Amino acid sequence: MKIICNIGLLAGIQPEGVLRLEGAAQGRTGMLENAWLAIEDGRILDFGTGPRKGDIDAAGGMVMPGFCDSHTHIVWAGSRDGEFLDKINGLSYEEIAARGGGILNSADLLNKTSEESLYQESLARVQEVMEKGTVALEIKSGYGLCPEGELKMLRVIDRIRKSVPAAVRSTFLGAHAIGRGYTHEQYVQAVIDLLPEAEKWADFVDVFCDEGFFTVEDTERILSASSLPAKIHANELAVSGGVQVGVKHQALSVDHLERTTDAEIEALKGSATMPTMLPGSSFFLGLPYGRAKDYLRAGLGIALASDYNPGSSPSGDMRFVMAQGCIKMRLTPVEAFNAVTLNSAYAMGLSAEYGSITRGKKAALILTRPGWDLTKLAYQYNTPFIKEVFFG
Ligand code: NIG
Ligand code: FE
Repeated sequence: MKIICNIGLLAGIQPEGVLRLEGAAQGRTGMLENAWLAIEDGRILDFGTGPRKGDIDAAGGMVMPGFCDSHTHIVWAGSRDGEFLDKINGLSYEEIAARGGGILNSADLLNKTSEESLYQESLARVQEVMEKGTVALEIKSGYGLCPEGELKMLRVIDRIRKSVPAAVRSTFLGAHAIGRGYTHEQYVQAVIDLLPEAEKWADFVDVFCDEGFFTVEDTERILSASSLPAKIHANELAVSGGVQVGVKHQALSVDHLERTTDAEIEALKGSATMPTMLPGSSFFLGLPYGRAKDYLRAGLGIALASDYNPGSSPSGDMRFVMAQGCIKMRLTPVEAFNAVTLNSAYAMGLSAEYGSITRGKKAALILTRPGWDLTKLAYQYNTPFIKEVFFG
């Protein structure tokens, strides 16, 4: 057993069995001042208040659950900085994609890159986000866009999973864009044909159900053919119907939601699907921010994730995500904190183990420098705050 003592603030305490937070409950979290926390076999054994001898002196710092990032495309090859310049010069995401840039550009780069280099480049980014406090993350395929390239990505994700202390969940996103050399119909069929092999590697299946990419019917076909739980890209570029098809197939999450009407909020009520917003892509692409507050008012919970990828969100910084949740979506610091911890863990099926200070959960924690609390975390969002990250 190891004890962290002298904790100024222990934040993010939840009772056992709480797998997600919805409505008003998302605005609450348990906190203890002057606390200690005991860890055994990598798990939280107990915690309490008052002086206690310890093995790790928190020196008055805050202890909180590490960030959970339920939506990333962190495995990619090369760089799309040329498109960054196109974007600055006024081209939209859709226009860049229509010129053969965007996801297809990443696919060309990835298919030219060896598996080893892809692993090394991607691992460096995973290490970067772990240093920034991410203890669990989901990683998608979707830059291969041919059977060989997609399987290469899934193998790389698996290798990362086995080589880092953070928890990694893998998602097969073959249906990210139409691969070169295929018609739309041929490609959807190729994705379906690849499912049995992809499912040996992946935990989830995803479809980019949006204008100019995959239709509701394509999504329906792919989800019906898959035995994996779904996470869906929906409503980034248009009101796509992706939320409704996701809910119909009991998707674990529907993600993006920059363009949401009340019908999407209605469809999500009473479902097990976690609406997930990605403020980093709203920021980078100049899209509207998701209507997070309206979801909470409707009694739903929301998760926030980074979408770390080379085209729409080249940042995996979850504290920046949290800050944008507050500044741009008007979430309270506690609502945003729960969105980047417990609810984001839920959105990748990990909330029984990650996302809160709860007896029995993994001791996947951030220890901050002295003087931090959840409000300051989002407010003073660029000041170094981490003293140490624990992965259990
Ligand atoms: O989540 N929207 C689709 N996919 C990614 C972007 C991928 C890219 O541009 O490379 C996203 O934003
Ligand atoms: Fe994405």
